[in-house]
Amino acid sequence: MCGIVGAASLRNVTPILLEGLKRLEYRGYDSAGIAVALAGQLQRERETGKVAELEAKLARREVKGQLGIAHTRWATHGKPSRYNAHPHMSNASVAVVHNGIIENHESLRSSLQQQGYTFHSETDTEVIAHLFDHHYRQAEAPDAEQRLLSAFRTTLSFLHGAYALGIIHIEHPESLLCARMGSPLVIGEGSEEHFIASDPLALLQVTDRFIYLEEGDHALVTRDACRIYEALGSDPRAEQARQSMPMTTTGQPAGSDPKAVLEWSEVQRPVVRYEHGDQVADKGEYRHFMLKEIHEQPRALKATLEGKVSDEGRLLTSILGPGADALLASVKQVQIVSCGTSYHAGLVARYWLEGLAGLPCAVEIASEFRYRHVVVPEGTLFVTISQSGETADTLAALRFAKTAGYLATLAICNVPGSSLVRESDLRLLTNAGPEIGVASTKAFTTQLAALLWLSVALGRERLGEERVASLMSDLAALPEQVERVLDLEPTIEALAARFASKHHTLFLGRGPHYPVAMEGALKLKEISYIHAEAYAAGELKHGPLALVDDDMPVVTVAPSDELLEKLKSNLQEVRARGGQLINFVCEHAGLEDGEGVHNLLLPKVADEVAPIVYSVPLQLLSYHVALVKGTDVDKPRNLAKSVTVE
Ligand code: AGP
Repeated sequence: MCGIVGAASLRNVTPILLEGLKRLEYRGYDSAGIAVALAGQLQRERETGKVAELEAKLARREVKGQLGIAHTRWATHGKPSRYNAHPHMSNASVAVVHNGIIENHESLRSSLQQQGYTFHSETDTEVIAHLFDHHYRQAEAPDAEQRLLSAFRTTLSFLHGAYALGIIHIEHPESLLCARMGSPLVIGEGSEEHFIASDPLALLQVTDRFIYLEEGDHALVTRDACRIYEALGSDPRAEQARQSMPMTTTGQPAGSDPKAVLEWSEVQRPVVRYEHGDQVADKGEYRHFMLKEIHEQPRALKATLEGKVSDEGRLLTSILGPGADALLASVKQVQIVSCGTSYHAGLVARYWLEGLAGLPCAVEIASEFRYRHVVVPEGTLFVTISQSGETADTLAALRFAKTAGYLATLAICNVPGSSLVRESDLRLLTNAGPEIGVASTKAFTTQLAALLWLSVALGRERLGEERVASLMSDLAALPEQVERVLDLEPTIEALAARFASKHHTLFLGRGPHYPVAMEGALKLKEISYIHAEAYAAGELKHGPLALVDDDMPVVTVAPSDELLEKLKSNLQEVRARGGQLINFVCEHAGLEDGEGVHNLLLPKVADEVAPIVYSVPLQLLSYHVALVKGTDVDKPRNLAKSVTVE
């Protein structure tokens, strides 16, 4: 999704902004741009394609200054093009970068047009530039800074939707305005310089000290200081939740009226040190971040489990937050809400929550959940799962859930300072370290490990000490088991060649391995662009079997569990129609290679942890198929790492 970088410094900020944009490339984008203030002028350059193309352009035309903003755009309103790329300007005096969606942009656009503003793009963002220009011209204030802030606040009051914003004005060559509502934004603190960015990763080359803006905050940032203001008198999160709720019975969409006049008060937000080191620029010995992250899984799984079990095997549930112990004891059911890979993790967890904790569990995609009129059963724990903690639909679902009568909210997340973590009652961090590849890998397996731990924590009375201890030792054995699976990479690489000319693939699994198959299919389609669908193997005869012929690879996930014999019958059905079977199978399953049957043997592992272990070869398969196909593995087309707009 769109990425923002901004800087106010004594040095030339252009190289800082460009490096920041490069570090945001992993988020996905289609164009990039920069605006820098110098000598009473705003200089702007924009380009479609990669940041390197913008950089090449900047090498031909010197753009430098001590204040600037920059942006990578992921098109929502208007196609990818130079004129739709940010920054957007108004009257050559205001430049704006924006992440999010302004929902009332059409009504704002027509009222600004009536006031004489000409639009040069199809974007929703351009209204912000003109709106700001308009209010700046009208603002009356005792001094220049008050005038700037007053125009900014009035502008914000007209915006419905989600935004992270960076704005500069020609008459204020030292001031950088920024705001967040629904899209993440951090301020980076340097020595006599300050920065803003959508993600701390963009600024690690210049600082490791960050201030996370809260929902509804805005700030005036200069090289020497940053002053942050929060809204008083109305809860901006409630406003956001209102906007993201299902349509009212009258079906009224958000209008173009300003929000109720707000009072503002200066506020101190904590400065947080980023402790993961600067891993963004470093693929190490690996060709792609995705491969690096697949191989990091043993270490990531270990880090996820660290601090969650005492030396005596006791589950340290207090890490979830204050009051967690009592709260867990009162949970009667669980509602999980998430998107994409994180949704698949939730689907696997349902088997654990029901089987181990004996709790009814519902799992839903956030974009559906947030628009349903849900009925909340008493004692329901609301769990969100997210790598980034900034996924717009998941966040909106959480905000809605907080008003809907759930027992408590719990975020399972990889990013400690993220909105999801900060806004939930309890948090379970996965500690996988930054994930840069768009295709989620270590985030998924660590989410699964965290969810298994949570299921045991919720079911510990029922399970008894001995069973809890044995499940914890199964979890502790995971890093070594995953290491053994990683050793199979050369065999998996050889299998990948079979997919090079294929257009479709089926993935099959049963029980918790059905969602593992779903995740395998998602991985394959997102990075190799081969159409892949997953089915519960028992569903084959109810339709998908019609697709199977000798040109159809069918990938199955076949651990040695109670459903294996049933799965074997499903495999017979595929072979009888000529389907090419590629089985990821337990070495004790008794399946043999033959014509059209290729078995990749995996170690025998405990049933509960098998979904985690069996996910890894599917990741490697997708990776190597993508290599054969020559796609952009880390930045697949049309996709963004963190989906911060609806
Ligand atoms: C999967 O490889 C994708 N990266 C995507 O499905 C992702 O899991 C989804 O967008 C949710 O992201 P989150 O975990 O950051 O909320």
